[in-house]
Amino acid sequence: MPDRLDDLRSEAEAAIAQAGDVATLEDLRVRYLGRKSELTTILRGIRDLPPEERGPTGQAANEARQTIEQVLDMRREALESGELERRLAEDRVDVTLPGDPPWPVGRLHVINATRRDIEDVFVGLGFDVAEGPEVEYDYYNFEALNMPPAHPARAMQDTFYLSQQVVLRTHTSPMQVRAMELQPPPIYMVVPGRVYRRDSDATHTPMFHQVEGLAIDEDITLGDLVGVLREFARALFGPDRDVKVRSSYFPFTEPSVEVDVSCFACGGKGHLPDGSRDPLCKGSGWIEILGAGMVDPNVLRFVETNGYDPERVQGFAFGMGIERIAFLRHGIPDLRMLFENDLRMLEQFG
Ligand code: DAH
Repeated sequence: MPDRLDDLRSEAEAAIAQAGDVATLEDLRVRYLGRKSELTTILRGIRDLPPEERGPTGQAANEARQTIEQVLDMRREALESGELERRLAEDRVDVTLPGDPPWPVGRLHVINATRRDIEDVFVGLGFDVAEGPEVEYDYYNFEALNMPPAHPARAMQDTFYLSQQVVLRTHTSPMQVRAMELQPPPIYMVVPGRVYRRDSDATHTPMFHQVEGLAIDEDITLGDLVGVLREFARALFGPDRDVKVRSSYFPFTEPSVEVDVSCFACGGKGHLPDGSRDPLCKGSGWIEILGAGMVDPNVLRFVETNGYDPERVQGFAFGMGIERIAFLRHGIPDLRMLFENDLRMLEQFG
């Protein structure tokens, strides 16, 4: 009998050592120590044994039970701590992963996204970013930009007048004189912001956005203007773009130019790969993107006492429509779509 008990014990020990999880261990406990187990049967049968066998068999059986219980306990502890570690490892929350908000995070409106792209280019070129008031004095919006009261150029901009002296600014250019009043030269800045005109159709909205640029220093030429705008055009429309200037007229620049970028749809050829005329540049290979020029000395005279002596400093200015840039880059067919706030449209950008 003690031999059988030895076998039973080593069989149980081997099985317990193999058990891979706590559930299997529980099955083994029932099998080797349960009410119907061989060991329990042996213990129960001791009283029926011849008296001289009872002592040694009982002792051996009890030892076997204790050993199996100990081995079971040890294995359970080992498995439980292993399982805990595994669960901790699996359930660990990685706080560096992006969150899972109940609503998807929004995105920038295509106008703001474009505005930031434009700002980034000029900040990279050493320009500051400034903003100015949308409700503006006639003086800054027109007069100090070389447009005295009866100047015909005023009629080109359908102005919202709040009073005789106060308007909703029709362009971002009034910040030119305001900024020069605030700081002496040199000045390198861009001014993004909203502007207003009494105009409304597929290509005009009564409120739209512009970015003004102004650079005043001692040795600035039209070449600097072209170089800066070439960098700008390449950053926004692709590295192969070129720019050209055509002469134009603005009251506050002399000379004034209109700046074109080589067409990014046809690569400047004017026709598409299938030979048809490129509708974007209308077959010309060039697209107008902004107005610019050398700041007219008459403008500098308004801030001469602030250090802007037109004999000593000069510079360039430019003004572009943000909607126009966005609409060229994304092929938006109707400017009004930008302000209808239809998510099906807005979610395509930004
Ligand atoms: N302010 C002009 C407009 O709204 C755009 C413009 C043209 C701005 C030439 C400039 C410039 O600074 O030099 O039509």
